[in-house]
Amino acid sequence: MDFVFTKLPYFTFGVFIIGLIWRLIRFFGKGIQSHPIFPYAKISTFKRVSTYLSQILLFTPIFRSDRTLWTISWAFHLSLALILAGHIRMFAGIKINEKLAFLLGSFFGLIFLISMLILLLRRFGEAKVISTTEDYLVLLLLISIAVSGLLMRFSGHHYNLTAYILSIVSFSPITPRYDSLLLIHFLLAQILIAYLPYGKLFHSVGAFVTSYLPLRWQNA
Ligand code: HEM
Ligand code: HEM
Repeated sequence: MDFVFTKLPYFTFGVFIIGLIWRLIRFFGKGIQSHPIFPYAKISTFKRVSTYLSQILLFTPIFRSDRTLWTISWAFHLSLALILAGHIRMFAGIKINEKLAFLLGSFFGLIFLISMLILLLRRFGEAKVISTTEDYLVLLLLISIAVSGLLMRFSGHHYNLTAYILSIVSFSPITPRYDSLLLIHFLLAQILIAYLPYGKLFHSVGAFVTSYLPLRWQNA
């Protein structure tokens, strides 16, 4: 299974980049107005920038239309952002207070998992008629990543990936010391990364380029 660490990451990255380029070419090729609210609205630059940032960082359109969904969704995205920041810290080997790192990682890891379980329940309940197979699969994939991550966290095992990450970016991959949890977590994370440009998760990139979705929610 060493190939998951030594070969697969390059394949994953390649699939991700090809997907990214394909989506961007397709998007700009269609000549869709990237921020349709901008040209016709006579607003100051400050208002424009603050609207843009609040839509991306605070999900303001969804806040106006559905407070419960907003709370869960925002908690989900915020915890995801903090977990990924924590991963970068772990990969780079940046030291902070161990107890604080453990508390933050455990707290936001659990918020991440719980908010996704609620989002999944919602898809089996009130949002069932508008849910597609992809909606369920994405949440299940993310939940599996969170569960394997949290199991590693609470296993008491110390994972040191700094040398491994360095070896990957310098194109001389080594296999890190791993157990089945890290193997599963890393494999699932790579499936997520490779798939990201091809499906609904592309909204994470799209949100910066178009306000189509927020506008759609506003009208909903
Ligand atoms: C890119 C490859 C990734 C690697 C090598 C990796 C590795 C790890 C490791 C070693 C841990 C245990 C940390 C500890 O015990 O202190 C962990 C935890 C975790 N991972 Fe990942 N991870 C990756 C990607 C992701 C992604 C994309 C997500 C979310 C979508 C994610 C979500 C989590 C969660 C929720 C935890 C538990 C909470 C925490 O420690 O922050 N991981 N990961
Ligand atoms: C700046 C980046 C991002 C923005 C502005 C953003 C915004 C949003 C908004 C407004 C929603 C609709 C509310 C909802 O259905 O929960 C949503 C849904 C969702 N986002 Fe994001 N997102 C971003 C990045 C990401 C990333 C990186 C991931 C995962 C890798 C992600 C995963 C999801 C999922 C799974 C849902 C649907 C939840 C459900 O099934 O109900 N998002 N996003």
